[in-house]
Parts: sequence; C-alpha cells; structure tokens
Amino acid sequence: MHAKVFDTRDDASDHPCRWANAFHRDLMRRNHDRLRLAPPGDDWEAELRAESQLRRMEVGFVEAERHAVAPWTRNVPTRAPAFLAWFERLEQTGPGQGDPLFPWLAQEADVTAMRWFIKQEAAGEAGFDDLVALSQLRLPAGPKLEMARNYWDEMGRGRLDGMHGPMLDRAVAELDVVPDPDETVWESLALANLMLAMAGSRRYVYHAIGALGVVELTAPGRVSRVNEGLQRLGISPTGRRYFQLHAGLDVRHSEAWNREVLGPLVERDPDCAVALAEGALMRMRAGARCFERYRAHLGIAAERAISVREGRKLPVAA
Ligand SMILES: [Fe+2]
Ligand SMILES: [Fe+2]
Repeated sequence: MHAKVFDTRDDASDHPCRWANAFHRDLMRRNHDRLRLAPPGDDWEAELRAESQLRRMEVGFVEAERHAVAPWTRNVPTRAPAFLAWFERLEQTGPGQGDPLFPWLAQEADVTAMRWFIKQEAAGEAGFDDLVALSQLRLPAGPKLEMARNYWDEMGRGRLDGMHGPMLDRAVAELDVVPDPDETVWESLALANLMLAMAGSRRYVYHAIGALGVVELTAPGRVSRVNEGLQRLGISPTGRRYFQLHAGLDVRHSEAWNREVLGPLVERDPDCAVALAEGALMRMRAGARCFERYRAHLGIAAERAISVREGRKLPVAA
C-alpha cells in the first residue's frame, strides 16, 4: 500500500512537466549569475530585487518538495540512536534505491548511453564541497569538525590532483562530454537547484545536512556500478577515478557523518530530526526523479522499473 508513496511520477503529467522544465532552467541561470565570480555591479538595488525573486522561487520550490515527503516523516524518531537507525535504513528503502538504471549502466550501456548519462550528471552537479562549506556555518564544534574533515577530503587533502571536482572533470574529458544545462533534462537541474536552495539558506540548514548525509549514504552503491560500466567500456583508471574513489570513501564518510554530525545534532535539538529527515528524503526523491527520466530516455525496459518500484517500502520508525 505504500508503494505509491515513493512514486516520483506525481508531477509527470504534461503541464507540470513543461512548467518544471522552464522553472528549473530559469532558476539554474539565476543561480549561475548569483554565484558568478565578479566585481560588484553598478545597480545594487536591481541586484537585491533579483535576489529576492530568486529566493522566492527557491522557497516555493523547497516547500513544495517538503510537502511531497511529509507523509514519510510523520514517525521519524527524535532520539538520536533511533533516528540514526531510521536514517541508515534509507539506504535500503528510500526513494530511488535499487533503481534498475545502475545495473544497466554496469552491464549493458553502450558508450553513447554512458556519455549521455555522465553529461546529465555533470551538468546537474551542484558541487559537494561548496554545499558542505555553506552548510557548516555556526554549527557546534563536533559536527563542524567532521564537516571540515569531509571538506578536506573533497579538497584532495590539499592536492590539486586529489580534489574531487577536478577528478569528475577528468572523467568528463575522457568521455569527451561537454556539460551543458541547455542539453540537460530538467530533473537533473532540479536536483542541483534543490541542493543549492537548501545549503544556501539558513532556513533549510538542517535539510541541507540531511541531504548531504544521504548522498554519502547512497552514493557508493551507485558509483560502483557506474565505475563497472566505465571499466567495461574501456575508460582508463584516471577517467574512472572519481567513481572508483567514492565507491569506498563515501562508505567511511557516511559512517562519520551519521556518528559525528547527525547523531550529535539530534541529541542537542530533537526538533531538528524531522528537518534532517525531510532533507534526506527530498534529495532521494529528486534523485529518483532523475533515474526515472534517464531510463525513459535510454529506453530501459519499463517492467524492470515497475518491479523495483513495487518492491519499495516505507522507511519505518524504529
Ligand atoms: Fe567527493
Ligand atoms: Fe564523500
């Protein structure tokens, strides 16, 4: 009975899709302008008006996404050990987990399909390092320290060739892909817009921390399959390194994030548990929306997807 709750197609009718397509392209362009490195412009009042407009778009979007996951967070535990058990179960039961896209990429995708997939993912990449940096403002010392360790890993521990962002760029270069938001499906842009909307706003700081934690929790399963596919297609170890590295590193990042960030935050303020849970579920739902769209584009058999969707269960309270 709960399978439909995790169905991400509730906005898949033609009209909302056209609206979402235009909205997320617009929001991504505005975010690009907002974050662009530039000296101050002449008209600060116009800039403030534009920023206020952008913030309104973001809040409207985030609130709609919160509303969509509200049925799943009613029984979220507010004591730290039970919350962590609930959170960790998302790896098995959350939206998009076990999606048939990834075994297909590992075993069947040809190089054209893999290039298209990487192009979508790269254009929708919001920059984990910057999201962590934005989210750690004013956190208590323990969680802040773990986020600093995570950020330091993102920075290649001070070495350019170990930085995660440029590592993804090398995969993109070897596949001869040019990320371009204009050639990216809106679902992927929405994922990046969501992450930035949460991390860039103090209102949604707990949501951002929950979402970043669930990326660490769920990325290893996905990137290891992508790495498998890239290896099968003859991509070099350098070109695959981003995926290979995260398959192992994010297991450790996830354990540390849960233990050092989520647990202490819930212990300190049990009221934040629901916001952390909402952020995690919103990120997973946005990911699931991408996988579904990618499968449709790549012609991956629908019956495989249906069997997976019917197998979904609600993350239950501990
Ligand atoms: Fe990373
Ligand atoms: Fe990580």
